[in-house]
Amino acid sequence: MGLIDIHNHMMPRVDDGSKSIAMTCEMLKIAYAEGIDTIILTPHYKSGHLHVAPYEIRRFADEMTRISAEYDVPVTFHPGNEIRYYSRAIDRLEKEIALTLADSDYALIEFEPPDPFEKIIAAIKELTYAGYIPIIAHAERYRCMCEDLNNWQDVLDMGGLIQINCGSVMGKHGHEQKAYTHKLLKEQAVSFIATDAHRDTVRAPYMRECVDFIYRKCGAEYADKIIDDNPRRVLNNDDID
Ligand SMILES: [Fe+2]
Repeated sequence: MGLIDIHNHMMPRVDDGSKSIAMTCEMLKIAYAEGIDTIILTPHYKSGHLHVAPYEIRRFADEMTRISAEYDVPVTFHPGNEIRYYSRAIDRLEKEIALTLADSDYALIEFEPPDPFEKIIAAIKELTYAGYIPIIAHAERYRCMCEDLNNWQDVLDMGGLIQINCGSVMGKHGHEQKAYTHKLLKEQAVSFIATDAHRDTVRAPYMRECVDFIYRKCGAEYADKIIDDNPRRVLNNDDID
């Protein structure tokens, strides 16, 4: 079975991700070569920024699924968003102006790197109360997480789940983020890895090296869970323990 990428910016010209449809096609080729066969598109949703309409994300996902099959690099695309948390995020989710991942109850939520930990906890509380399951996007980017090595436990206890970027695990974003992702993996605190791909060169949809590393370092049982089982549970909107 193929790999599932739950976080990337492959939809062109809608955020700081892919610059063109040609770049998206290059990213698709890389993703396919990496063994990825399912992609949830997650354009940024940030307050005060222009947003791509949900129907356009859905239409693009359908179109890419069709085109990729036609060009012999078959990948199934699903709609989604990466939502920068703010006071009206839940209202936007409830009105389906911002999208959950593949129409599940799982919402990919990001914060500003210097945001305090209290903000992350408050967001998890509000989202779970509203019936969503928050996935904290690239947890290694937040100072408050890296600086206090126990905070991940509170995130999980509150009902949040943790996603880390493949590039961070492989040391592409500096020593601190690498060390923190390895610590999280050792503690089995991570529920998802993803590419967070923005380009076809740097920050391309590379996943395989990270997958191999996790199988080697963390054992098959946990690797299967975070690489295959959990993302599939998102697609099927099943619970994750
Ligand atoms: Fe992202």
